[in-house]
Amino acid sequence: MEMNKIAAAILLAGLIGMITGKVATILYYGAPHHAESHEAKRGYSIEVTEVDASAGGAAKEVELASIIPLLSSADVSAGETIYNKKCATCHTHDKGGKHLTGPNQWEIVNRKKGSAAGFGYSKALAALTDKQWGYDELNGFINNPKKYMPGTIMAFAGIKKDTERANVIAYMRTFSNAPAAIPEAPAPAAEAPKDDIPDKALQPENLHPKQGKTPHGD
Ligand code: HEC
Repeated sequence: MEMNKIAAAILLAGLIGMITGKVATILYYGAPHHAESHEAKRGYSIEVTEVDASAGGAAKEVELASIIPLLSSADVSAGETIYNKKCATCHTHDKGGKHLTGPNQWEIVNRKKGSAAGFGYSKALAALTDKQWGYDELNGFINNPKKYMPGTIMAFAGIKKDTERANVIAYMRTFSNAPAAIPEAPAPAAEAPKDDIPDKALQPENLHPKQGKTPHGD
């Protein structure tokens, strides 16, 4: 009994703390709908850059690199764990599974965006049915849904770690009887192509003494 009261008191204190924080934010920045209303007037007209209002640290965000090079070595079962924890509350992924808060995700890789029959998409996503969820589109969306697609109703903050997104996407790829191919990752640009040198020319006896080693050391 006593323990319950103590727990309740701690909860209440936490709640009050959260609410006061929220109110302070609202008083200062105006109503809390950042994504859609960048132009909306705030309470005071102080020149602040938008990044100040969002979660700290997001200031210098870099262009997201392609996830494809990480996919073939991704850990599918680690991805399953993350998916179950972070996505499965809102998404089923079995064939013909029902829509929850979010649409069923059977065959999500390369599926047309906003195309699950019977799901009520946001206007933002419903407008994209001529586009597909390729690996990098999924990567961008899962990294930061609201930034990738302003106006989306997917209330999810995003997964910031590249390897975690790779793992989740590699798991999502399995939501199919015929998982989509993983495209060849482009070869690192620095590597000089040696394909056009006939193999015979690389044999030690055919090389000038000074060329005893290939530049790649292999
Ligand atoms: C709080 C619920 C919620 C969570 C958690 C969530 N989603 Fe969603 N998801 C949605 C909703 C709602 C939509 C529809 C968005 C829209 O219409 O703008 C959606 C849409 C999507 C879509 C587009 C589907 C389509 O048919 O075009 C993908 C892909 C997706 N979610 C992946 C994920 C992944 C991966 C995770 C976990 C990392 C996740 N979601 C977590 C609710 C959620």
